[in-house]
Amino acid sequence: MLPAPSPAPLIALHGVSKGYHEAGTLHTVLHNVDVTFATGETIALMGKSGSGKSTLLNLVSGIDTPDAGDIVVAGASLVQMNEQQRTLFRRRMVGFVFQFFNLVPTLTVLENVLLPLELNGTTGAPARQIALDLLEQVGLAPRRTAYPDRLSGGEQQRIAIARALAHSPPLILADEPTGNLDSDTSAHVLALLDRLVRQTGKTMLMVTHSPDVAAVADRVLHLREGRLVEDARTASAALR
Ligand SMILES: Nc1ncnc2c1ncn2[C@@H]1O[C@H](COP(=O)(O)OP(=O)(O)O)[C@@H](O)[C@H]1O
Ligand SMILES: [Mg+2]
Repeated sequence: MLPAPSPAPLIALHGVSKGYHEAGTLHTVLHNVDVTFATGETIALMGKSGSGKSTLLNLVSGIDTPDAGDIVVAGASLVQMNEQQRTLFRRRMVGFVFQFFNLVPTLTVLENVLLPLELNGTTGAPARQIALDLLEQVGLAPRRTAYPDRLSGGEQQRIAIARALAHSPPLILADEPTGNLDSDTSAHVLALLDRLVRQTGKTMLMVTHSPDVAAVADRVLHLREGRLVEDARTASAALR
């Protein structure tokens, strides 16, 4: 029997290069990267500090633009968009989880989760219902009127996960989401993130230094000297 045709990837990088000029010399961070990510996949991105992991996330979210190559997300080429179009793309299509949580300190827990909904035009009771449902799922509905500085690191990251999912973006980008948490909290937050991302069928690109964190991913990619190398284990699984 013929294998089923694979669906169009959610994300495709074609010949993507990116570098920075420093003291007159070009320092190449990404060198001619070709890779595709399917809808529903969780991908762990590993590599030593300075290897270009955050640069890759910034390119996929349209925060930054490549020097060469194309990045296509959900059929749209990011390099063909102007900055305003990329901002709208990011607001609608991407949810972010950061190492240092990045909650807005002057907004309550509920208001933080409402933010991406409001930015996408969902307001009032419907927005409140979505936000409260998500807070329920991350176990923090009782803290909805608290301010972020009253919460522990693990609690703040659970709020950030609710915020990343609130507007139901197809893509979650997580940059060392457990990098600032102790190991028990890390395991709990990771399990929650993994469960919610899979439940909702989202694609997640997650930067991590931890093999334990990478173990939940469907594919593990390493950035080495500007090139992406896939773990033999997950590369062979992808061929099946
Ligand atoms: N805006 C920038 N200007 C100059 N160099 C940068 C800039 N952003 C990143 N770099 C450099 O690019 C390389 C990759 O950075 P980054 O993607 O942040 O690495 P990682 O997230 O893997 O630690 C580093 O050498 C860093 O110094
Ligand atoms: Mg980084």
